[in-house]
Amino acid sequence: MILGVYGAGGLGREVYELALDVNKIEKKWDEFLFIDDAEELSGTEIYGLSVMKFDDFKGKYSTEKAEIVIAVGEPRIRALLREKIKDEGYSLGILVHPLTRLSRWARIEEGAIITYGCNVSCDTHVKSNAFLQPSCGLGHDTCVGEDSVISACVRIAGGATVGERVYVGMNAAVKEGTTIGNDVIIGMASVVHNSIADGLIVMGNPARPMRKNENHRVFGHPEKTK
Ligand SMILES: CC(C)(COP(=O)(O)OP(=O)(O)OC[C@H]1O[C@@H](n2cnc3c(N)ncnc32)[C@H](O)[C@@H]1OP(=O)(O)O)[C@@H](O)C(=O)NCCC(=O)NCCS
Repeated sequence: MILGVYGAGGLGREVYELALDVNKIEKKWDEFLFIDDAEELSGTEIYGLSVMKFDDFKGKYSTEKAEIVIAVGEPRIRALLREKIKDEGYSLGILVHPLTRLSRWARIEEGAIITYGCNVSCDTHVKSNAFLQPSCGLGHDTCVGEDSVISACVRIAGGATVGERVYVGMNAAVKEGTTIGNDVIIGMASVVHNSIADGLIVMGNPARPMRKNENHRVFGHPEKTK
């Protein structure tokens, strides 16, 4: 089986190393490569692996021979890529670092990536294509929605629910039992005491709405790069 890491940036390199760590414990893949549609990356090599566009990947590897993981940190783009990959009939791989503690009663869906040092407690539900960065904690009965990204060192307390396409910035804390709506961005180091409605950017302690999440971008706001 081949594993295609979709996204050949810094996160892609991290995800590739995670896949190697997983393979050391239980050999799941015989070959790895990067998929990236950026013109300047296609045809290059990273850590000795080929980088190819998704169209070229489709032409070369059948859906029986390959699975894919998405190594992109923008929740909106994770969702778009997941749809595209599923439409073409490929499966999404699951990656859980061997140095993460995963409860035997946790439910992990296709495409979920859980990096090292996380604690994923009992009766948690990590939905399809969610991404947990290093050293996150998910308390009992928490749920992380599809395509959401939980940054490093975030703590989500028992019974909290994180919606779809949410980004939780590093070191944030989310109080037990709260509900985070879809398409929310939580600024780094925020402390979330109350539930948050869909489509808001919140930050601070206590976390307060800053504005609506209109352009669905966590990183690289176009207006700031001018
Ligand atoms: C919430 C976030 C997306 C907002 O991004 P943005 O729209 O570019 O806004 P800025 O970062 O420019 O901040 C705007 C203002 O809010 C303030 N602010 C930003 N984040 C804050 C936070 N977590 N708590 C309190 N204030 C914050 C900034 O100081 C700035 O104030 P100013 O206008 O007085 O200078 C961003 O601050 C953030 O937290 N990103 C996630 C970072 C992260 O977790 N990275 C991990 C990488 S793996």
